[in-house]
Amino acid sequence: MKILILGAGGMLGHDMVTSFRQNEIISAYTPEWDITKKDILEKKIIQQSPDLIINCAAYTDVEGAEDNKDLAFKVNAEGTLNLAKICQKNKIVLLHLSTEYVFAGIKKEGYNEEDPTHALNIYGSSKEEGEKYLMANCEKFYLVRSSWLYGKASQKGKPRGKNFIEKIIELAQLKTQVKVVNDQFGKPTFTKDLAQAVKALIEEKPAYGIYHLINEGTASWYDFAGEIFKIKNIKTDLLPISSTDYNSKVIRPKFAVLNNNKRPLLRHWQEALKEYLT
Ligand SMILES: NC(=O)c1ccc[n+]([C@@H]2O[C@H](COP(=O)([O-])OP(=O)(O)OC[C@H]3O[C@@H](n4cnc5c(N)ncnc54)[C@H](OP(=O)(O)O)[C@@H]3O)[C@@H](O)[C@H]2O)c1
Repeated sequence: MKILILGAGGMLGHDMVTSFRQNEIISAYTPEWDITKKDILEKKIIQQSPDLIINCAAYTDVEGAEDNKDLAFKVNAEGTLNLAKICQKNKIVLLHLSTEYVFAGIKKEGYNEEDPTHALNIYGSSKEEGEKYLMANCEKFYLVRSSWLYGKASQKGKPRGKNFIEKIIELAQLKTQVKVVNDQFGKPTFTKDLAQAVKALIEEKPAYGIYHLINEGTASWYDFAGEIFKIKNIKTDLLPISSTDYNSKVIRPKFAVLNNNKRPLLRHWQEALKEYLT
């Protein structure tokens, strides 16, 4: 099976390339592979003739999306539409990555795969529109939602933005107190685990449709930071704050919790985090 991995230079894309290294893969990087340029993209895809496309390419700057709505929708919605149409026309299976931010985050018990979406912010809305385009235009699709990703990868040829873990460790070194939100909940997920779960899904070929792949166990950002401090033996004071005290222009879902009802469960997030940090 020949696999094209789009967004291969990103945090998840990098681990996806590693996970599928035994297969015949084409790692696709920007600017040569731009999902917003449909005609060029289609030509390149036909040239390579993959059986499967894994789309890790996205505009992922949640704060930045509030000021760059057009770009976020161009990449996350139109880009996905381009891929959906190309894959449908050329009989290619499309595995597309999405996010817990497509949900409103009001269901304390978490969101099942088929629950209705209702994004709260621009990034979430652009990904939600991409999902709708995918499902309306492509029959052979896997829509894989995940959440709160962290990974080791650096962007090919450029420094990558810090993930939550690196930011919190840096803050703890600079300050005597670190304040972290304790009223937003999610499932922190290691990109390595997600990439392996995607590989298992592709190998087993279950029915096309929506899948939730996340490390198990729910945490607040405060719980997540607390576990990082514990594993790294950081003694800086960690203080819980509410979302209203956190200075951000983005409205974020409170219970961004995905339920995995269809696939083998991934390991607990605390175990994955320990491996990542040690
Ligand atoms: N990070 C999270 O917490 C999280 C949570 C849930 C779901 N997800 C989803 O998981 C996927 C991967 O996320 P990630 O965290 O790995 O993101 P990332 O590190 O920001 O990587 C995204 C990749 O997409 C590329 N890209 C941007 N615009 C593109 C375009 N027009 N055409 C082709 N490639 C383009 C970027 O390349 P350049 O840097 O060169 O622009 C980058 O390599 C996304 O679909 C995201 O929505 C992420």
